[in-house]
Amino acid sequence: MKLVKWTITIGLVMCFVHMVLGQEAVLSNAYNRKCLSLDGHWKYIVDPYENGFYNYRYEPFEYQSNPGNGAFFTNAKRKSPADLVEYDFDKMDSLIVPGDWNSQDDKLFYYEGTVWYKKSFDYIKSEESNSVILYFGAINYTADVYFNSKKLGRHVGGFTPFQFDVTELLRETDNYLIIKVDNKRAKEGVPTLNTDWWNYGGITRSIKVIELPQTHIADYTIGLADDMSGIHGTIQLQGNSKARQQVQLQIDELDIDTSLITNASGQVDYTIIADDIKYWSPDSPKRYAITLTTDADSIVDTIGFRTITTAGSDIMLNGEPIFLKGISIHEESPIRGGRANTREDAEMLLGWAKELGCNFVRLAHYPHNEHMIRLADEIGLMIWEEIPVYWTIDWTNPDTYNNAENQLSEVLSRDKNRACVIIWSMANETPVSEARNTFLSKLATFIKHKDSTRLISAALEQKNYNGNPLVRTIEDPFAEIVDVLSFNQYIGWYDGNIEKCQTISWHIDQNKPVIISEFGAGAKYGLHGPRDERWTEEYQEYLYQETIQMIDQIDQLRGVSPWLLVDFKSPRRVLPNIQDNYNRKGLISEKGEKKKAFFVLRDYYNSKE
Ligand code: GCU
Repeated sequence: MKLVKWTITIGLVMCFVHMVLGQEAVLSNAYNRKCLSLDGHWKYIVDPYENGFYNYRYEPFEYQSNPGNGAFFTNAKRKSPADLVEYDFDKMDSLIVPGDWNSQDDKLFYYEGTVWYKKSFDYIKSEESNSVILYFGAINYTADVYFNSKKLGRHVGGFTPFQFDVTELLRETDNYLIIKVDNKRAKEGVPTLNTDWWNYGGITRSIKVIELPQTHIADYTIGLADDMSGIHGTIQLQGNSKARQQVQLQIDELDIDTSLITNASGQVDYTIIADDIKYWSPDSPKRYAITLTTDADSIVDTIGFRTITTAGSDIMLNGEPIFLKGISIHEESPIRGGRANTREDAEMLLGWAKELGCNFVRLAHYPHNEHMIRLADEIGLMIWEEIPVYWTIDWTNPDTYNNAENQLSEVLSRDKNRACVIIWSMANETPVSEARNTFLSKLATFIKHKDSTRLISAALEQKNYNGNPLVRTIEDPFAEIVDVLSFNQYIGWYDGNIEKCQTISWHIDQNKPVIISEFGAGAKYGLHGPRDERWTEEYQEYLYQETIQMIDQIDQLRGVSPWLLVDFKSPRRVLPNIQDNYNRKGLISEKGEKKKAFFVLRDYYNSKE
């Protein structure tokens, strides 16, 4: 049998060494950098058997000694006529980037596997000495990235940004970027095999070409000093002339115009006394225009200044107790469907949260796109961000831990200067075990070391108190480590009928704030009936009424984020004519229709100071 092989050419330099170039640390405030956006139409090839990556003996081409067996597709027109070519990107259909493939191509509705993407572009640097990076907002789930026939590297994790420096590979015309995207679920993944959301695959957030001065402002933090007397932070330059460089920090509204000098490694820590800072809060989301300038670079940002701490069972914003009036949100585009990724999607979702009377949102169960965070900063919504350490993670696998920690590191790099982010959550409903406790404790130590300015939490395990089924309590070793005790409870939905809410009490020993991070019931919009009939709007409405009564008895209750704002897609929810692949616990349908329970929660929040 004549061996059919996918002839692919590849740069001679890298293919057989399969060097995975280290990803750079994520550039601070890439959001505000001038860039060439690569959003738009990308050619794609669906490759369920990964023929573009493995030879017929299932050996990765990249490890091949013979450079002729490349590791990926490249543009067919580059081949000599003698080459056997069995694919041609230029003749393929396109997918829109950013965007998941499931909602763009009916043939890919359930698809889990590899899709190859290709984009060509020209680029002329404005300064020959400048650096150029490719910045990826997020790709779900594993991305193998190739640029002008060189392997840049692999990124694992579907919801956080990453980047590669392409300065040495860039040319003025016909640059081509090829990405192998694989969204297959895996036991060792984060999340693992089992979730209650749709596994949207693809280049789900924007990709940008960002040109930077050779020595530039790579990383910075800026925030309110713990004693609220001024502002402090760190600035890190990157490049050949980073040492002993002057950095000008300007905040005109605070009469700050300070010259700072970096040390030998290009870093400078600073504290600047400032009077009359108006603190950021949901009621008054005051932000200041800041500018950082060096002799070669300049970046602008808008920064809110606030502190978030706990005092016993109180959550303290700027030293004052606050109750978190929240709602949980999945990252799905209302009305359009598929992954949300635009400013308009964020405006619709967070607009509904504001209509509910929220001052807080739980972005479940993974880091959402940056439009959500930037808009929450702007309109005044505090945010709980979490990584998808969800249910039955492979706790003993070091690669799984490193993946979880990397996702936490990347979302922190992106959002650390956003006042609205107040809680980092390590986990959701993860069964207690020695390995799980170790895994989560290590994550908590990591994030607390990186960011001591925010609170940490997790949706913890709860159970009957002293074996009494009518008294619930938090029994979870991780409760000793988190700042805020959170747990999900579904009394009246998964656990008995709604009247059970009237018989349950809560016994919580720990002197820490408590958030009920989930409660709810399914309801199909427009289905009406008696309040004891499941799936009716009346059932969901009655459950909200009874649950609010029940949880208000918890002395340490300082917040709630019911499950959830909008019906969302899940392959677990298949009841015909009721679910039809949707989890129906939304207060709003996927068509934007508000259910009766929406108004129960809104009235509860409006009644709370
Ligand atoms: C769990 C889980 C959610 C899930 C919800 C439900 O608590 O955290 O991801 O969607 O319950 O059952 O609807």
